[in-house]
Amino acid sequence: MPVPHNTEHLRFRRMTPADLDEMAALLGDPAVMEFYPAPKTREQAPAWIAWNEDNYATYGLGLWIIETHDGDFVGDCGLTWQRVNGELKLEVGYHVRPAWQGRGFATEAAAASRDFAQEHTDALELVAIVHPDNRASSRVAEKIGMQRVDDDLGADGSVRHVLSMRLRSTADLSDGDRPR
Ligand SMILES: CC(C)(COP(=O)(O)OP(=O)(O)OC[C@H]1O[C@@H](n2cnc3c(N)ncnc32)[C@H](O)[C@@H]1OP(=O)(O)O)[C@@H](O)C(=O)NCCC(=O)NCCS
Repeated sequence: MPVPHNTEHLRFRRMTPADLDEMAALLGDPAVMEFYPAPKTREQAPAWIAWNEDNYATYGLGLWIIETHDGDFVGDCGLTWQRVNGELKLEVGYHVRPAWQGRGFATEAAAASRDFAQEHTDALELVAIVHPDNRASSRVAEKIGMQRVDDDLGADGSVRHVLSMRLRSTADLSDGDRPR
């Protein structure tokens, strides 16, 4: 099963239960989870890993582990299907350990995930769903070619910015694949 291509500083691999310590530390870090309802507890981290293993098996994609070429754990990045105002859209997501932030790593990894979506899915569009105050996340999305197009309204009334880019034009699809 393919994963995104290597970047200048990073390589991708599938997440497994052996990543529990690193993933629990990442998802339990209040700085990393500032724009989520709460950091995840160690007990919640296995469900995140299992969700990604399900996504690899079902869709051939998910959030993958990103690590340096020396094998140092950097975080996760990749693709998941998410509902945006009721419609399923392919989203790129990323979480980088604070120690590795500010070096362009999220941008490198997000660009490789975008390329994977172009090469290995039929999706026409890639989105990023971002908390309005999460400037770092919006910048990563903008730097790989996205623009804010919409807001997603949660059931609780919360607002998320939706940034989007086209992955291919409908002219690239065969007649049978063209949306109607
Ligand atoms: C978002 C995140 C992945 C970015 O990781 P990163 O590796 O530091 O990002 P990059 O180094 O590729 O930086 C990308 C851009 O964001 C900018 N940026 C980074 N941190 C920023 C901040 N706190 N405020 C404003 N801009 C910021 C960078 O300056 C850069 O833009 P520039 O080239 O125009 O200067 C990281 O901050 C993170 O893990 N945040 C917590 C998890 C999260 O919110 N994920 C997104 C969920 S939607």
